[in-house]
Amino acid sequence: MITRKDIVIDGHPVLRQVAQDVPIPLTEEDKKTLRGLLEYVKNSQDEELAKKYDLKPGVGLAAPQIAVSKKMIGVHFTDEDGKLHSYALANPKIISHSVDTIFIESGEGCLSVEKDVKGHVPRYERIKVQAFDAEGKEVLLKLRDYAAIVLQHEIDHLQGILFYDRIDKEQPFIINE
Ligand code: NI
Repeated sequence: MITRKDIVIDGHPVLRQVAQDVPIPLTEEDKKTLRGLLEYVKNSQDEELAKKYDLKPGVGLAAPQIAVSKKMIGVHFTDEDGKLHSYALANPKIISHSVDTIFIESGEGCLSVEKDVKGHVPRYERIKVQAFDAEGKEVLLKLRDYAAIVLQHEIDHLQGILFYDRIDKEQPFIINE
């Protein structure tokens, strides 16, 4: 299973690489990695398991964060309406998005970024994501608000982008209309 020691930290070159597409259907190895990503985020939110296995809590994990440069992510969280979003996705791609952008007031964090970087990270308010699940079945997701933000953060990892890249350097708290 994936634990804290498997997660690479900002400065590791794999975090800046563009990850490779995963062949569909997935190989057994890729399936295992994909399931492991989701398992990590799920377990990391369980206080007992997190303590037992030394898991830093998070809502999403992308394969490059465990030094696997392949397009795979695992996310697990509940949105503002109480709806659970729990996905293990291969080759996730934003196929359309809103013009409007939003940001999390308190900023974003990342399991691979140890420093606390403050500022607004502009994200599309609504996105449509196309991806494949571990069985190789196509998945289409329509997401908004917090769920859209989490998915954009994880999909960014597959392009070698970290959240603080999107913070305005001169005016980190600027609000663009
Ligand atoms: Ni991250």
